[in-house]
Parts: sequence; structure tokens; C-alpha cells
Amino acid sequence: MRLIKLFFAVAALAFITTPAIQAEEAYLNYKSYCMQCHGMHGKGDGVNVPAMNVLPRDHNDNKYMMTRTNTEIYNAIKFGGQSVNKSIKMPAWGDTFTEEELHQLVGHIRTLCCESEIIRGVNFK
Ligand code: HEC
Repeated sequence: MRLIKLFFAVAALAFITTPAIQAEEAYLNYKSYCMQCHGMHGKGDGVNVPAMNVLPRDHNDNKYMMTRTNTEIYNAIKFGGQSVNKSIKMPAWGDTFTEEELHQLVGHIRTLCCESEIIRGVNFK
């Protein structure tokens, strides 16, 4: 009986913490691979900016980011800027991340731009 209780406790804990762990992974990936251009908080002000002739997208720019679908954001990350008619200065990351990690990065970017829309349950498509 005690074992069964323990099993349910562990299962419940895993259920509760999984989204948090995924969010943490996405944050760490963003920090390692994206911040040099997009900046510490995604404001498009990374250390590379002075040397760039096309500015990295400000991922906090709610007005602009709300015009982009999740599919467009996903494609920009996986296949690079050119795939969505943006600059080639935005690299393609399809060989760097798993499918799951790519989707987590899209989710992370949504937390940077669109927190209140997430809370309202907006469908980003
Ligand atoms: C070498 C610099 C650089 C790095 C590193 C970089 N980006 Fe970008 N990114 C850019 C630039 C430049 C643009 C803007 C392209 C444009 O406006 O034409 C951009 C645009 C984007 C866009 C927006 C496309 C749109 O719809 O406007 C997304 C999403 C994005 N980057 C995600 C990421 C993610 C996620 C990472 C890390 C895995 C990353 N970028 C790493 C330079 C970079």
C-alpha cells in the first residue's frame, strides 16, 4: 500500500514539474544559443549587435510578434531567417535541436513577447 502511494506521489510530482523543467531547458538553450544576438532578455540587444547590419528581432516586441504564427516562429528557428523571408543573419538551428527543443523554444519566445495573451489562452496557430 505504501509503495502504491509512493508511486502516485512520484507520478503526480513528475506531472507537475515536467512543464517547469521544459521551460527551464528552453531558457538554457535560449541563453546558450540565442542571447549573443537577441540579448539577455530577448530585447534584440545581444553582444553581436554592433557588428550586424540586420538587427536581431526584439522578441519582447508584442505588437510585431503577435503578427507571427507559432509555425512561422518555428520555421524561422529550424530553417533560418531566409525560410520566412527574413535575413540570412538569423541562422538555421534544425541540426542543433530536437523537435521537442524547437517547440520549447517557440514556447519560450511566446513567454518573452506574449505573456498576457498566454494567460488569456490565445491560440497562436
Ligand atoms: C547570429 C545572430 C543570431 C543568433 C545567434 C540567433 N538569431 Fe534569431 N534572428 C537574428 C536576426 C538578425 C533576425 C532578424 C531577421 C530579420 O528581421 O530579417 C532574427 C530573427 C529571429 C526570429 C524572428 C523571425 C521573424 O518572424 O521576424 C526568431 C523567432 C528568432 N530569430 C529566433 C532565434 C532563436 C530561437 C535563436 C537561438 C536558437 C536565435 N534566433 C539565434 C539573428 C540571430
